[in-house]
Amino acid sequence: MEYLEMEGGVPLEGKVEISGSKNATLPIMAASLMASDEVILHGIPDLEDVHVMADGLCLLGAKIKKEGHTLIIDSRTVDQYTLPESLSRRMRASNLIMGALLGKFKEARVAMPGGCAIGSRPMDQHLKGFALLGYQVDADKGVMTGSYKNSRGKRQVLLDFPSVGATENLMMAACLTPGETVLRNVAREPEIVDLQNFLNHLGARIQGAGKDIIQIEGVTRLHGGEYRVIPDRIEAGTFMVGAAMTGGSVWVEKMQPNHLYAVIAKLHEMGIEVLTGKNSCRVIGQQGFYAADLKTMPYPGMPTDMQPQLMALLAMARGTSVIVENIFENRFMHVDALRNMGAAISIEGKIAIVRGPIRYHGATVQATDLRAGAAMVLAGLAAEGQTRVTGLEHIIRGYEHIEDKLQALGARIRKVETTQA
Ligand code: EPZ
Repeated sequence: MEYLEMEGGVPLEGKVEISGSKNATLPIMAASLMASDEVILHGIPDLEDVHVMADGLCLLGAKIKKEGHTLIIDSRTVDQYTLPESLSRRMRASNLIMGALLGKFKEARVAMPGGCAIGSRPMDQHLKGFALLGYQVDADKGVMTGSYKNSRGKRQVLLDFPSVGATENLMMAACLTPGETVLRNVAREPEIVDLQNFLNHLGARIQGAGKDIIQIEGVTRLHGGEYRVIPDRIEAGTFMVGAAMTGGSVWVEKMQPNHLYAVIAKLHEMGIEVLTGKNSCRVIGQQGFYAADLKTMPYPGMPTDMQPQLMALLAMARGTSVIVENIFENRFMHVDALRNMGAAISIEGKIAIVRGPIRYHGATVQATDLRAGAAMVLAGLAAEGQTRVTGLEHIIRGYEHIEDKLQALGARIRKVETTQA
């Protein structure tokens, strides 16, 4: 078993470079399946989820070479459109392969990924959208089987909810489907814009990503190309919150502040100093910041992926904060761990009431999902005494070498590997 062990109370000081975005990389890797020539991707983070996606592409016949943070993907040898359940089970984002395979082969068979700790993660919006694009997709016994029937005239899809994954899946399927498609009430995250820019770089005709209507003119072929993914806004936000929680001073570099306005505005509201540069933010932690209310919303609102980390910060703030988790039905899995470390938090359905200020004390806690684990690490860095965070397999899914980056900022943290199960 592996865990992170840390001695808290050391302010984070110095500079940290942000890695490429996990949530931009995964759809762009899936979309690479549709290219008729080699694709070269730069700034790809070294994460477990990226390794799983690469395994999936290779199972379909693609050839992938990794050179540092560059991936060279050749999909000319992709010869099948069935993704085995053994792969889908390993990562929810494997469902993004469905849209790419439908676009490329007009047929696909992909096992539906299960739910996870934070929610049941249904795919009704994906299936509804595929049907409106002219694909017959049956979800029987947990497997999506789809094939192109036909569709006349302009295809119109209106999502009931601006689902990130559904938006990405439909963009991929539509860009190689003949005719015009209009997607409405779509997700507007920076990762959607990155996928559009990548696909257009390969010859697709997509416009409107980042707004609530995306228009797509289907083309017959996507050529190869070279592309750099955007920085990971959630990793950047996580380090910014860490600086605030430890009372340190951290330059977060190689990031895009305009991808994090909701988080930066909230830190300002709490009385925390954030200086923004073109590709960096500096957070100067100080004692005595204030409580603030939080509602997670689709972009450009407060990202749900920052809710656990900001809750950990708000527990230390003066006053009472009300947090409403509007995106996932079970994303308070970190609350028990934070309580064990001294936080005063009560839950009423999708609402968490956080009473501060408290001072964290060390404990042994278990990560249950990616961002919950990050919140526990940050609390451990702020705590008095020693903290152990187990469940490392969740954290390494989305944070590249997190202990190395934190050590470089002065944190007393190390990864411990034990033989016991
Ligand atoms: C993406 O997940 C991200 N993952 C998540 O990041 C992120 O939390 C989420 O978007 C919201 O921003 C990747 O990009 C790989 P959704 P996704 O479809 O696409 C419900 C992380 O920590 N819904 O926008 O699965 C769904 O159950 C991860 O990096 C339906 O009901 O998110 C959820 O409650 C966690 N039906 C909500 O919408 C559907 O058909 C948001 O889902 C689809 C979604």
